[in-house]
Amino acid sequence: MNRPTPETLLEFADVSFRYPDGNVGLDGCSLRITRGSRNALIGANGAGKTTLFQHANGLLRPQGGTIRYAGQPIDYSRAGLRRLRSEVGLVFQNPDQQLFSASVREDVSFGPLNLGLDTATARQRVDKALLAVGMAKFADRPVHNLSFGQKKRVCIAGVLAMEPQLLVLDEPMAGLDHAMRQELLAVLDDLHARGITLLLATHDIDFAYRWTDRTHLIAGGACTVSFATPDLPHHADALEAAGLPVPGVVELHRLLRAHHLPAVAKDIPAPRSVGELITLLNQGKDS
Ligand SMILES: Nc1ncnc2c1ncn2[C@@H]1O[C@H](COP(=O)(O)OP(=O)(O)OP(=O)(O)O)[C@@H](O)[C@H]1O
Ligand SMILES: [Mg+2]
Repeated sequence: MNRPTPETLLEFADVSFRYPDGNVGLDGCSLRITRGSRNALIGANGAGKTTLFQHANGLLRPQGGTIRYAGQPIDYSRAGLRRLRSEVGLVFQNPDQQLFSASVREDVSFGPLNLGLDTATARQRVDKALLAVGMAKFADRPVHNLSFGQKKRVCIAGVLAMEPQLLVLDEPMAGLDHAMRQELLAVLDDLHARGITLLLATHDIDFAYRWTDRTHLIAGGACTVSFATPDLPHHADALEAAGLPVPGVVELHRLLRAHHLPAVAKDIPAPRSVGELITLLNQGKDS
């Protein structure tokens, strides 16, 4: 039966969670993730990003409020969680929390085999995932002596091999070198082009502004505001309240505006990258 595709893929409604020692993890957080969109979750250290992500794939269970995936409240039964985790892939912030097998191939195979795929299909998916993150030649290496960045890539491969609908990445770029960041970005672009929904936590506000469709701010466990990313310059106060900087290009744009350059007049939307800013300025030269 073909059911209509729900617009909202993941929804947090007034979700609260406290850790056993009393620390507030989430404090009445409401948030919507639309199918096919690229989302950044932005917040200072300790804001609740990792806690929110662990709720997204059922590792933690809300003490108040509701989480819906594809329109249905999360089913916390064993089978329900298994289904959820085949749809919602979570890449942990710390790779050592995610990797547990002896070899790279074994680790990346775990998810697909656990889904009940036959060995040949699982192997195909594993090879493809390792290739996507540039780790194919490390397939038979022991996990424990990989570098941090290599471990991170293996974690990403492990989740890619599950072919999730929603990919949740907790600071995926942290600890990766420039080349690997570019490669990871190409992987994420490809997933986005294939309709996969992406939600990532990052402290790189410039990247979030340049690349995502929607930005969600979190502070003290509260999901303070969500907006279309191109509107970020209008939310500078909310960013500041959450202890976050505005992107460099927005700051530069503000300063140029203060000098009344016609190319950056108020009625022209703010650029999202230095390249876009240069284009605006070049257009202004001719006007
Ligand atoms: N296992 C835990 N037990 C008790 N408190 C915890 C635990 N994990 C996190 N916390 C607390 O919950 C709050 C939210 O933490 P969380 O790890 O979700 O933040 P974060 O936004 O991911 O931060 P970071 O940017 O440092 O990764 C913090 O106050 C933190 O100290
Ligand atoms: Mg975290």
